[in-house]
Amino acid sequence: MKNDSTTREHWGGSLGFVLAAAGSAIGLGNIWKFPYITGMNGGGAFVLVYLFCIILIGLPIMICEITLGRKTQKNPLGAFLAIAPHGTSTTRSIGSVFLLIALGLLCFGKFGLGLIFGVLAAFAFYFGWGSIGLVGVLTPFVIMSYYGTVGGWTFAYFIKGITQQLNISSTVEAQNIFNSFALNPFVAVFYQLMFTLLCGFVVWFGIKNGIELASKFLLPLLLLLLILLIMRSLTLPGAAAGVRFLLSPDFGKLTSEGVLIALGHAFFSLSLGMGAMLTYGSYLDSSKNIYIASLNIVFLDTLIALMAGLAIFPAVFAMQMNPEAGPGLVFQIMPVTFNAIGDNVGWLWSSLFFLLLFIAALTSGISLLEVCISCLIDEFHFKRHSAVFGVTLLVSIMGVLSTISVFDWEKIPWLEKIFLFLFNSTDASFFDAADNFSCNYLLPLGGLGISLFVGWVWGTRYAIDEIRKGGEQFSDVNFFTLLAGLKDDPNATRDSHSLTLGVILGIFIRFLSPICIIITFLHSIGWLKF
Ligand code: TRP
Repeated sequence: MKNDSTTREHWGGSLGFVLAAAGSAIGLGNIWKFPYITGMNGGGAFVLVYLFCIILIGLPIMICEITLGRKTQKNPLGAFLAIAPHGTSTTRSIGSVFLLIALGLLCFGKFGLGLIFGVLAAFAFYFGWGSIGLVGVLTPFVIMSYYGTVGGWTFAYFIKGITQQLNISSTVEAQNIFNSFALNPFVAVFYQLMFTLLCGFVVWFGIKNGIELASKFLLPLLLLLLILLIMRSLTLPGAAAGVRFLLSPDFGKLTSEGVLIALGHAFFSLSLGMGAMLTYGSYLDSSKNIYIASLNIVFLDTLIALMAGLAIFPAVFAMQMNPEAGPGLVFQIMPVTFNAIGDNVGWLWSSLFFLLLFIAALTSGISLLEVCISCLIDEFHFKRHSAVFGVTLLVSIMGVLSTISVFDWEKIPWLEKIFLFLFNSTDASFFDAADNFSCNYLLPLGGLGISLFVGWVWGTRYAIDEIRKGGEQFSDVNFFTLLAGLKDDPNATRDSHSLTLGVILGIFIRFLSPICIIITFLHSIGWLKF
């Protein structure tokens, strides 16, 4: 295998890598989605389950992705092809099954799904295991099309905030402002394009001078803004109810569906399942400790999600608003909440809040673009600047369609016709369809593919070998010896048959994580009911 780690650009240091990867993970998922789904699923009880999912499934898969990237020093497609260049009888069998499913679906008139399975079958025949990476490289186009829409809203709200257009006192007024995007989608399109262009601007400068520099500046700023907002929220009269809502576990409200939502969200929130972490890992050099880096990324992501809950719920409760408002919680309730505080600087708090959201979305958007860009550079020998240009342009086009069709399809009748033909329904907008398709299908299946590939095709042994390069003592330390505080005791000797962290990782990625993902997936497509 050609290993061009000497020519590939690398992160300046471990901190830069951790901040960039945490920047990818920390996004809209943490700041509006996590608090809201927590609210709907029993508060503290849901948080506990989410923490379990993060540690037991998210962390092992994060380690897999980073390791695969660092070993191959390539984008997701190249990484899979570097380890398994040729199709095998297994991939051909999988391809055949996909082909049969595709034909079946076409016969029943389900053209859209049939087409998707047909493409997957072709990928499996042609690229073998590389198709997991290829799907990963294509996923950002789907995610970014709606992520850019919401990113644009956050930008628009920030501008509205500082120009004092968010001085509103009722939710009706807030709804009117939000719906004005529907009446005049060109404003939303403008901000969405600005957001996408800004993401493109950062990746234009590459890894060290682009992504790493931006993350080193933006992430501390994000943390600072969040702390300010928490202090404001917690000092409101009646804030304690919000804290209680977030932290006291009410297991009565926790359903089996809630458990599955927690797992799916763990994937989205940690940016797993499509090779974003793999790509970031490919810019890492061998001297860095993957265990420690992954733990830090997961810790930061979880911390920010919990802090976002602490900033939002006390404010919502203090103002006696409904905590289960979903996406509207952020865009419609927060400005009203801040204005109702009555200290005449509500607009400032609103602006800070939307700036926070905007920064979070930006550092995530960057990672979504970089996955495709790295693929164009490695596999198709694009220069970085032309790759950035091409990807940003394509993503912008998808984003414009999504932004225009968020509220109703009628604005783009030809797209509605295509959707009607392919999926027999236009119940959901382009925006909802992109969100649903990527979160419920692409990411869990990508995560499944990655863990099975590392555990069974590449082999845990080789993965651990790669991890050892930057963290020998961690891979081979006995788990119980570590717990007991005997890590440095020469008498607690290494024993290859004992339960080391490496052994635990292997068991997780070969069995536990795939099984959990399969259960989640079957549930989300409705084949498994609890
Ligand atoms: N993790 C981000 C969030 O919480 C979203 C995101 C960025 C993402 N890159 C990703 C999700 C890659 C899945 C895969 O908002």
